Amino acid sequence: MDVKNVTVVGLQWGDEGKGKVVDALGRTCRYVARYCGGANAGHSVDVQGEKFALHLIPCGILHENVVNVVGNGVAFDPAVAWEEIEGLRQRGVKVDSTNLKLSACAHVVMPYHKLQDSLNEQMLGGAKIGTTNRGIGPCYADKACRSTAVRLGDLLRPDEFRTRLRGIVETKNRMLSAMHDATPFDADKMADEYIEFGKRMSSMICDTGSLLRKACANGERILFEGGQGAMLDVDHGTYPFVTSSSVTACGIPSGAGVPPKAVGHVIGVAKSYASRVGQGPFPTEQDNEFGDAIRRRGKEFGTTTGRPRRCGWFDAVALRYAADLCGADEIALTVLMDGEEQIDAFRICTAYEFEGRRIDEYDPSLPLDKVSCVYEDWPAWKAPIGTARKFDDLPPEAQAYITRIEQLLGRPIGVISVGPPREATIMHHCALKDLK
Ligand code: IMO
Ligand code: MG
Repeated sequence: MDVKNVTVVGLQWGDEGKGKVVDALGRTCRYVARYCGGANAGHSVDVQGEKFALHLIPCGILHENVVNVVGNGVAFDPAVAWEEIEGLRQRGVKVDSTNLKLSACAHVVMPYHKLQDSLNEQMLGGAKIGTTNRGIGPCYADKACRSTAVRLGDLLRPDEFRTRLRGIVETKNRMLSAMHDATPFDADKMADEYIEFGKRMSSMICDTGSLLRKACANGERILFEGGQGAMLDVDHGTYPFVTSSSVTACGIPSGAGVPPKAVGHVIGVAKSYASRVGQGPFPTEQDNEFGDAIRRRGKEFGTTTGRPRRCGWFDAVALRYAADLCGADEIALTVLMDGEEQIDAFRICTAYEFEGRRIDEYDPSLPLDKVSCVYEDWPAWKAPIGTARKFDDLPPEAQAYITRIEQLLGRPIGVISVGPPREATIMHHCALKDLK
């Protein structure tokens, strides 16, 4: 199979284990590019027992010879990025302008965005979104607003930047002082700090769109690393309980500056159950001992915020929608569980019920908090599966569960992850398994 580019996207509410899938395929690619989100993402990779949690830097950084790209669609927080770069360097990972390229057009998350994010949430009270408080929403709001936005390339023109920032900070201070009574931001101090970030990263800041388009023209493989998950997409997710960017494969062309056909082979990542952090509807949620058992077994605590995640059963209705939306060619099924005593059956939601009607096809305008779920029960397996390396090594019950999911989603399960380490991966029907 002649595969050029690869896309790895989340099909649920984030935290699907995208980092591991990117890591597994990243070595076969020349570029790994992020196109959405920002430091709200938390991608974990386990390399021979060494654990890495990446927020802004693409997971390809852990492979030599991969050029990592932060695309224009990312909300880039230089403070977080710099800490991450330094942390990686301290652990012996090379990060420099040869393997990390930052888009000059990426929008910068500024200190006032983070304050705005937490104040907005506080003011919303019970109606809050449950954001990661990373300033993501306010940064993208300024992107759409234009006059108050800062892009990474702006930091490289200090005089112009300082003058503009004075105006922006004045506007922000007025707005924020109406919301709370903290000390106003000092525009010049902030300009000094961000000009300094610009200097440190100047050799990495460039026109990443052009770089990626040339890579496409030269047949060099790009892997697009999604952040969040389709159900958190600003247009297609469970609005308003979503993030503020286009996180599905549909967001790649605009968020990375490449033509739509560059998206390539799409791998949709889904856990073998469901989880969600923050507020918002979650039809298969188990706020009970099953949810607790799943959380315990899947170690479902946020990589970015440490928050316990809400857990529930596999939702094939939402999954089919997300897979269709992303054009998933195959599915990577992650965090396959085993041995949880409390669980005798794994349930799969195959349809919703709303006002006495059965609903087989997901509809984003449905009041998801009011639907009930139609479930199928599949016998759980108790035997440990962490050492399985082939499909046939899995207990028959696990094989049946996976095959049923495959059937319900109408696409092959390509990759099965049976544990955090790189090698705890089964290449099942993966079209890329022989990729060099
Ligand atoms: P990765 O890439 C899980 C969720 C937040 C909140 C909503 C809005 O690790 O899968 P935001 O801070 O983006 O304004 O928050 O989106 N959220 C994520 N949940 N994984 C993520 O990223 C997420 N990024 C945002 O919890 O509900
Ligand atoms: Mg996460």
